[in-house]
Amino acid sequence: MTSADVTTVLLLNGPNLGQLGHREPDVYGSSTLQEIVSMCQIEANSSGLTVEAHQSDSESELIGWVQLAAKNSWPIIINPGAFTHYSMALRDALVQVDATVIEVHLSQPASRESFRSESVVAPVVDGTISGFGPLSYVLAIRAIAEQLAS
Ligand code: DQA
Repeated sequence: MTSADVTTVLLLNGPNLGQLGHREPDVYGSSTLQEIVSMCQIEANSSGLTVEAHQSDSESELIGWVQLAAKNSWPIIINPGAFTHYSMALRDALVQVDATVIEVHLSQPASRESFRSESVVAPVVDGTISGFGPLSYVLAIRAIAEQLAS
């Protein structure tokens, strides 16, 4: 495989996800974000993909990375955190991405408080994987790898 064969996958995590490991471990588990990113990198590398990972509590930074991915046709895996439920700006950015976009969640938001039932980004992404803890992310990498290979 040459470096030209390697495809970048943008892995984005929104507000408060940098606190994983000690943030509500009963809901989100004990893995840190760095551990989850490492799991994704291992899964991606086994399929010839590279992961570019960013976390931000800022909507504007997340939108900037989405716009970069749109420009470069990079697939995106995004856990928008609470922005899932109200960020029309993030949704408007994601709709500009032609490559595959997968929304992921550690928990199953639909089974929690009622305000988590709606995802404003869900209508503009290709798929959503939620409720499997860190495995949600790994499954998303696998889906993108299989899509790219087919
Ligand atoms: C979350 C679910 C959201 O409702 C919440 O605001 C988060 C994390 C998840 O991964 O389960 O920050 O996206």
